[in-house]
Amino acid sequence: MPTWQELEAKYYMKTFVRQPVVLVRGEGCRVWDESGRPYLDMVAGLAVNILGHGHPRLVEAIREQAGTLIHTTNLYYTIPQLQLAELIVERTRGGRIFFANSGAEANEGAIKLARKYGRLHRGGAYQIISADDSFHGRTLATVAATGQPKLQAPFAPMPAGFTSVPFNDLEAIERATTPETCAIILEVVQGESGVNIGDHDYLVGVRRWCDEQGLLLILDEIQTGMGRTGRFLAQEHHEIIADVFTLAKGLAGGVPIGAVVATEKASVFTPSDHGSTFGGNPLACAAGVATMKTLIDEQLIENSARVGAHLLGRLRWLQARHSVIERVRGLGLMAAFDLKQDVAPAVVRAALERGLILNNTSARTVRLIPPLIITAAEVDEAVETIDRVLAAL
Ligand SMILES: Cc1ncc(COP(=O)(O)O)c(C=O)c1O
Repeated sequence: MPTWQELEAKYYMKTFVRQPVVLVRGEGCRVWDESGRPYLDMVAGLAVNILGHGHPRLVEAIREQAGTLIHTTNLYYTIPQLQLAELIVERTRGGRIFFANSGAEANEGAIKLARKYGRLHRGGAYQIISADDSFHGRTLATVAATGQPKLQAPFAPMPAGFTSVPFNDLEAIERATTPETCAIILEVVQGESGVNIGDHDYLVGVRRWCDEQGLLLILDEIQTGMGRTGRFLAQEHHEIIADVFTLAKGLAGGVPIGAVVATEKASVFTPSDHGSTFGGNPLACAAGVATMKTLIDEQLIENSARVGAHLLGRLRWLQARHSVIERVRGLGLMAAFDLKQDVAPAVVRAALERGLILNNTSARTVRLIPPLIITAAEVDEAVETIDRVLAAL
């Protein structure tokens, strides 16, 4: 009998560098491998499992909806879709929502909205400015919007109309703005490039610049949304409101979904401009409704802020003990630490061997994005394991 790793090596496209465990089950903040070994999960499916694993309310909602109506088309009204639309739009003072199946697809919707807005209101402007080191997805347009040349090079030429400038640099955005510009797309905290936190003055300044120039501000809250940073949306820390924002990841607690939310002014789609076979289907939206309600009822956004502050404090404690840690940072339950040498993959591997799941975003940066249900005691357990891993480096 071949092992699962051998099957992967034989049949799966060579897209992922995987850790050497086969995960088969989860409960709360823990997952188990096929041999029955538990791991404390500080990655949460890359910021997806915000209710942890196997949350009874989410499981029950999915079970119930699966037995009622899994899917029909968007040619009909369906109830979970409209319930989730109301919950999100009312919570965020957005205007209108469209559901997709993933983050990249949500951003594609935002890009199309911006282009149509430019056509209608800015004389055909179509260019979108993004930030260096951003991450907006893996489709061609979202790779073009992603300010990382190494992700674009194998697929050149990129679709036209995208340019990126340094993050946290308002003047760079001002200089890059031309009559062709229709929108600016940013993450409030850059996730995939290692939890780079947007400065308050920068984000407020970009909002003001967009207002002055008549540009749309698109905030990609795919990783930062759903309470991850201690607010429902990370933009709330800065009291700014995007014209368009996107969600995905935690929105349905692990069931694939994405959403693009736009103010009334920016909601320029008319029938047949955009669509999706699966997007917003009853199963995904019922999971989304259960996730949203649980997030609120169990006060998980508050937990994210409180336990996130505890996590940052404990990372600072680690930094004081281990000179190999160069810098720590975090906002809510989105945290990272940089190492002085290229040892982040070794730290992640050694932690795994000790029953702790971490993620490295580069050779020097380790990221922690646990479920929002995590307790201070579980954070302490994770930090103690990292302490032992760093001591043994
Ligand atoms: C900020 C941000 N935008 C977009 C995406 C793409 O989302 P998906 O992988 O669901 O397409 C990600 C995924 O990591 C992300 O972090």
